[in-house]
Amino acid sequence: MRILLFTGKGGVGKTAVSAASALRCAGLGKKTLVISTDSAHSLSDCFEQPLSNEVRRIAPRLYGKEINVYDEIKHNWGTIQNYLSIFLRSQGIDSAVSEELAVFPGMEELFSLMDLREYSAAESYDVVIVDCAPTAGTLRLLSFPDVIQWYMERFFPIERKLVKTVKPLAQRLWSVPLPDDEVYASFEDLYRRIEGIKEILTDTSLCSVRLIINPEKMVIQEARRAFTYLHLFGFGVDLVIVNRVIPDDVTDSYFSGWKKTQKERLREIGESFSPLPILTSRFFPHEVVGRTHLLRMADEIYGDRSPADVFCREEPVKISGSDGHYRLSLALPFTDKGDLDVWLRGEELVIKVRDQRRNLFLPRALAGLRLLGATFADGQLTVEFGGDEDAG
Ligand SMILES: Nc1ncnc2c1ncn2[C@@H]1O[C@H](COP(=O)(O)OP(=O)(O)OP(=O)(O)O)[C@@H](O)[C@H]1O
Ligand SMILES: [Mg+2]
Repeated sequence: MRILLFTGKGGVGKTAVSAASALRCAGLGKKTLVISTDSAHSLSDCFEQPLSNEVRRIAPRLYGKEINVYDEIKHNWGTIQNYLSIFLRSQGIDSAVSEELAVFPGMEELFSLMDLREYSAAESYDVVIVDCAPTAGTLRLLSFPDVIQWYMERFFPIERKLVKTVKPLAQRLWSVPLPDDEVYASFEDLYRRIEGIKEILTDTSLCSVRLIINPEKMVIQEARRAFTYLHLFGFGVDLVIVNRVIPDDVTDSYFSGWKKTQKERLREIGESFSPLPILTSRFFPHEVVGRTHLLRMADEIYGDRSPADVFCREEPVKISGSDGHYRLSLALPFTDKGDLDVWLRGEELVIKVRDQRRNLFLPRALAGLRLLGATFADGQLTVEFGGDEDAG
């Protein structure tokens, strides 16, 4: 099975590209499911077919689902939600609002993760494509398993014991309703369903993340940030898709400024995301809706290739260390030490190999530090960071 996650800034074409990729996979004979986690669903508009929280058939071998967080909660998480709304009501929040509040941000993402785990265990599909919420949501989605595991391991067992022993007393003293065993059982069930998701998502031959961008400054900037953080979490980003590129055969003078800027941005994209392959789709003279347009978009992006391929198997950037001293390492195969140059520029680490440049956006922990030195051995570049920039 392959899991493909498509993410990018709002409006860049994630849903269109996800739908086009899914249609192409199904056309290649793969049983394909496309899921949308964004609460502003537009997958159904794209396919011109209604979709719902239940898996529905869209075309031969193609299935779709739009995650509805309220339905999912009713089915899977009723007990916890009940508790949360009783708790919120006890705090003086009226019942309609408390029901709304018991759905916290990121739940769609959480449910889609649980789905992925089930589909992967059951081998129900050859390809599962996830049309993710805009980038920030995806990063949250992908850090979820780590965050929840952390809480569960440290807090949950102690808390449960504590509540068992002190509950009769505490309940008399506090006005806050304490969770009962049923609520805890639901939490444990949730935890069991989340366990193992991280392994699935970071198995790069199983799961690939794809960045969708437009050749525009702010879109590229957000994607570079995402690229760095995805690497940090250990996810396999294997492809950049640049959507809405104005084709050469457009000669209208109205677009000449745009074409010039896009050329420049495409060069920046090459430097920012190398060694990832970069595929492009033209700016069509119409919306990308319906089978014909979606298939044309898939042809444009993938040519003869299958969206389910692994497009790049590069080792993610690794960062180790703590307390203001960090080591960043990345693989640079086929490089000679003499051809290599490394320096800091603002929040970026610039790595130059002969006439090729790679600009790596640094995560927050490293961005304010000084570059202490760099070593290169066995195809591996290691860069040391430490000390406050101000202190130096
Ligand atoms: N290459 C293209 N040429 C022309 N129109 C396009 C292209 N790609 C996408 N569109 C159109 O742009 C609009 C936005 O695309 P889409 O909904 O796929 O973006 P999105 O990234 O999913 O947005 P959101 O962040 O809101 O989910 C749609 O109307 C779509 O048909
Ligand atoms: Mg969308």
